[in-house]
Formats: sequence, structure tokens, C-alpha cells
Amino acid sequence: MDKIKITGGVPLKGTIRISGSKNAALPLMAASLLTSETLRLDNVPQLADIRTMCELLDLLGVSIEDNRVSDGSGDLAFAANSLTSTVAPYDLVRKMRASVLVLGPLLARLGHAEVSLPGGCAIGTRPVDLHLSGLEAMGAEIELAEGYIKARAPKGLKGAEVLFSNVSVGATENLMMAAALAEGETRLVNAAREPEIVDLANCLVSMGAQLEGAGSDVITIKGVPSLNGARHSVIPDRIETGTFVMAAAISDGDLQLEGARPDHLEKPFQVLRQAGVAIEPNDKGLRVYRANGPLQGTDIMTEAFPGFATDLQAQFMALMATAEGASMITETIFENRFMHVPELTRMGADITVHGASALVRGQKRLKAAPVMATDLRASVSLVLAALAAEGETELNRVYHLDRGYERIEEKLATCGASIARSKEDISS
Ligand code: UD1
Repeated sequence: MDKIKITGGVPLKGTIRISGSKNAALPLMAASLLTSETLRLDNVPQLADIRTMCELLDLLGVSIEDNRVSDGSGDLAFAANSLTSTVAPYDLVRKMRASVLVLGPLLARLGHAEVSLPGGCAIGTRPVDLHLSGLEAMGAEIELAEGYIKARAPKGLKGAEVLFSNVSVGATENLMMAAALAEGETRLVNAAREPEIVDLANCLVSMGAQLEGAGSDVITIKGVPSLNGARHSVIPDRIETGTFVMAAAISDGDLQLEGARPDHLEKPFQVLRQAGVAIEPNDKGLRVYRANGPLQGTDIMTEAFPGFATDLQAQFMALMATAEGASMITETIFENRFMHVPELTRMGADITVHGASALVRGQKRLKAAPVMATDLRASVSLVLAALAAEGETELNRVYHLDRGYERIEEKLATCGASIARSKEDISS
């Protein structure tokens, strides 16, 4: 099993190109199921989760052509002109929850689909009830049997008013895709407003969908009988951007993040500036460095977009662990999303958890320790902590990192980080 060793204390200096967004690319790939024509996606990152979605689409009968090269150019092309299966099996869904995004498109295009229930997840129970009740409102018949969601729409999906009781990114995406091919008009109320939703909407519109309101909390979709192929470029990854902003800040470095979209990160940047991070948008992306000396403890609460993203919470906690003063970090989106706390504590962080809030008392210097990645964002928070720590940190279970951060060691090493991967077994 791979592990990563990082020797801390080097201020990161240089330029990092921001990759395409994983969370935007996954639903866009699922949208290829909606048409028999080819969907070409540019700027798709090379990541384990993208490979898992390719595996799933391949299993359903989608032909995939990978023309990507390591500099980020080249497209991934999907042709769903002869689908051979409508089953998303447990083995793939268990690896990646976003597999559930094939449910809406399959049901809309073919009238039936079977998707394994995602089951337990390291960051809480993460149900799919909003996806299912939305599809039921559109006329789908859904049965849960043998660990599978078995959905049928023998007479096709019908437009409906869907009021989400909670904001859900995945449910909004599934319903947008299903409604694009349904008969009549669908209104999604209390829809998610994330940039990834807007990216999916833009792609669906270029495929011929009639959709309005993405980016607001009401999305209206008038179903059309069929969609066409298109070419679409995936937005830059705002979570990767936020992570590298914090890498510059925690290491007291100076980075240029090429291709970053500051407009996707207004709230996190507001908080980071308050903490003492200088973030200067420029024509190529943005420059980031510490404004003047040590960072200051700052409170945050995670919220759906445009609030502070839960996917940046663990990284912010690592940053605050080295700030002057205390900060209160409250997680409102997922239960059990403080699994990085014991690991950061092993590195000398002073963190006390009270329910959904963590009180972080900043320390002058963290200390290296062997640590274990528990989920994607938790693992990168340990990388950030290690960049600032005294000594060599050994990070185990880095496969979590590979799900969401493209060539992270290379990107950090180019900017001076002392970071290396080894293929040893953790038991050795
Ligand atoms: C997406 C992102 C993930 C991010 C999350 C929140 C992808 C591939 N993943 O996940 O990185 O952390 O948004 O920004 O884009 N919920 C229900 N019922 C449902 C669906 C969700 O109760 O049917 C709850 C969840 O348990 C959670 C909250 O709603 O508490 C938000 O989840 P959701 O927005 O659906 O997250 P994902 O789409 O899974």
C-alpha cells in the first residue's frame, strides 16, 4: 500500500495549475447516458474516482475514448449509443457514492435502472432519500430490494414540482438530468446552487436541454424528447484551489494558482483573508501568501454553497491548528466529519470536539508523526499539517488522496516541498 513522506518547514514557492473539478466531472460523465450522440469533455482530471465512473459507464455499454495527456489537454469522449445494461453493481457503488448519479439518466432514457444502495460511508450515513422521492414525484416506481434501488418508469418520467427538504448537490444533479428527458415541466425548489450544478446545467443546455435558473434555488426544466452530443470543458476544481491556497498559507509560502476561479470561493476567501491570508486575483488565476506574519484564529461554519464548503473544513482545521489564538469550526453538512481530529492531535494540534463543533487552539509548531488518512479531505488536511510540521510525517492509506487530488506530490514538489511516495506495505 502506498504511503507518502513529507518533511515539513519548506515555504512553498512557484506556480501550480489547477485541475478540472472532480465533482463537476462525475455528473457530466453520467449525463453522457442521456444521449446516443458523443459527449466530449475537456479538462477532466486523471483521478481514481474518474476511473471508477469510467468503469461503471463502460459496464453499462458506453464507449469511452480517452485522449487526455498529462498537461491537462485532450478530452474524454463518451458514446452511449448502444447501452447494454442498466445495473450499477455494489462493487462500484461502494467504492464511490457518486455512482448513484447514473440513476436519473438511465431511468429517463431507458425507463428502468438498478443501482446498489451506497451503504455506509466514512463521513456519516449519507442517505439517498431525496434522490428517490424526487424521482417518485416524477412518476417513477421505486422498490428497495436485495440492497438495490430498483426503479421503473414504464410510462416515462413526467415533469413535477420537487421541493427538496434539504439542499443536496447529488439529488439536484440526478433530478436535473432525469427532468431533461421527462415529459413536461419540472421545477426543482430548494435546489443546490454549487458551481458544479451550474456547470452541469451549461452542458445540458449545450446538449439541447431547456433549463433555467441553475445557480439559484429554483431550477426549471422543460423536458425534450431527445438530447444531442456536445463538447464541454469542466470548470476548475474549487476544492483543490482552496486546498493549495491553504498550503501556501500554512507553509508561509507564495504560490500562483493558475486557472483558479476566485468567484467560486468567495466565502472561503473572505474567511481566509480575515485569518491573515493575502489572496490576489490576477489575469491567470490568483496569487496567495501570508499578509503579515502569523495567521489569526478564525471561526467557520460549513454550509451549502455559497457558504463555506464542507470539503474545505478539514484543511481549514489544519491551518487553524498553527494559527495564533483559538478558532471554532462547526460542521453542519455531514455527521462524523471530524475523523482528521485524532490524527492532527497526534501531530501536536490542540483540538477539542463538542458535538458538531471543534475548538482549535493554535500551536506555534506541529510535530511530524505517522498518521493515517481516513477520507479524501481528511487525508489532504494531514498533508497540509505535514508541510508545516517539524520533522518527517508518514501518511498511510494515501489511496484516499488519489481519489481527488491529481498528481499532488508532483504539484507540491515543483514548489519546493520535500514529499515522496513509496510503495511499501504498511505492515512491513
Ligand atoms: C457532494 C460532493 C461532496 C460534498 C457534498 C456537499 C460530489 C461527487 N460530492 O456530495 O464532495 O461534500 O456534495 O457539498 O459532488 N442528504 C440526504 N438525503 C439525500 C441526499 C443527501 O439527507 O438523499 C444529506 C447528506 O447526508 C448530507 C447533505 O444532505 O448531510 C448534503 O449531501 P449532498 O449535497 O447530497 O452531498 P453529495 O451530493 O453526496
